[in-house]
Amino acid sequence: MTKTSSDLFAQFAERARPEIDAALDRYSQLDEGCPAKLREAIRHSLLAPGKRLRPMLVLMAAEACGARAEAAMPAAAAVEMIHAYSLVHDDLPAMDDDDLRRGRPTCHKAFGEAMAILAGDALLALAFETLAKLDSPPQVVAQCSAVLAEAAGACQLVGGQADDVEGGSTASNDTSSKEALARLESIHRRKTGAMISAAIRLGGLIAWADPLQEAALGRYGERLGLAFQITDDLLDVRGDEAALGKRARKDSRRGKLTFPGLLGVESSRRHAEELIDEAREALAPLGSSAGALEALARHVLDRNC
Ligand code: FPP
Ligand code: MG
Repeated sequence: MTKTSSDLFAQFAERARPEIDAALDRYSQLDEGCPAKLREAIRHSLLAPGKRLRPMLVLMAAEACGARAEAAMPAAAAVEMIHAYSLVHDDLPAMDDDDLRRGRPTCHKAFGEAMAILAGDALLALAFETLAKLDSPPQVVAQCSAVLAEAAGACQLVGGQADDVEGGSTASNDTSSKEALARLESIHRRKTGAMISAAIRLGGLIAWADPLQEAALGRYGERLGLAFQITDDLLDVRGDEAALGKRARKDSRRGKLTFPGLLGVESSRRHAEELIDEAREALAPLGSSAGALEALARHVLDRNC
């Protein structure tokens, strides 16, 4: 009997999630010198039950290019740390002002605003400290640091967020829907897509991917990142806060542009399906070793949280 892709994803996730969680726990012990409240705030957000999709992507990409997943674990943890920091800061009153994240009170609700800002700062630094634990040749570690720093930096994650808070994704009447769509895609390629693409690139770098494999991973990551954001918007419209572990429908209530808001639910769903088809096709040069990456792409379409 052949395994369906949801079996394959579930099988990979069942094996990888506990290992990722154990690594995050290990790398965030912070015993010496770290004030107890700061440590608690860091771990409250980092160890909260997220889906761990980005660290899984690091491990899957490494395996797809012939490395052992364990070799990539410091990079997987580093990506999740940056993701966790970005969620802590995104939830702050100065940004989205949210009170619920991953089914828990947001960091600033639990520990106060100043401590949440500091927990985010510390997670960002801890990510690079953790990445430096890779047991790879120095040139690979340096390349990984550059990829992660660029994706987390002013032209990608932070830049996309800056455009977003400046109203770049706010609906207005004086732009055509084509322009609005281009603006929305530009924000999300940086805000969401860049970290997803970086996760996949890190796995490839650690496995010494050849140029053909690297190009395939690049095409896959770009399409997956955008499809992920479209499904995020669609889930927000559906509004199942219990499954999502965060408040829903806030973007549309604030007048922010979303894919379903611009294209409608059906066309958004079709756009995401097309991107996922392209992402899966991009994996062809990697052959059967990319089965887990293919399964994750399908999972992104069918997810409910
Ligand atoms: C949900 O991921 C998160 C996103 C779709 C990314 C949103 C981007 C930001 C909040 C950028 C913020 C940037 C800064 C610099 C503050 P997920 O569904 O994988 O969440 P999970 O890990 O909790 O499962
Ligand atoms: Mg938010």
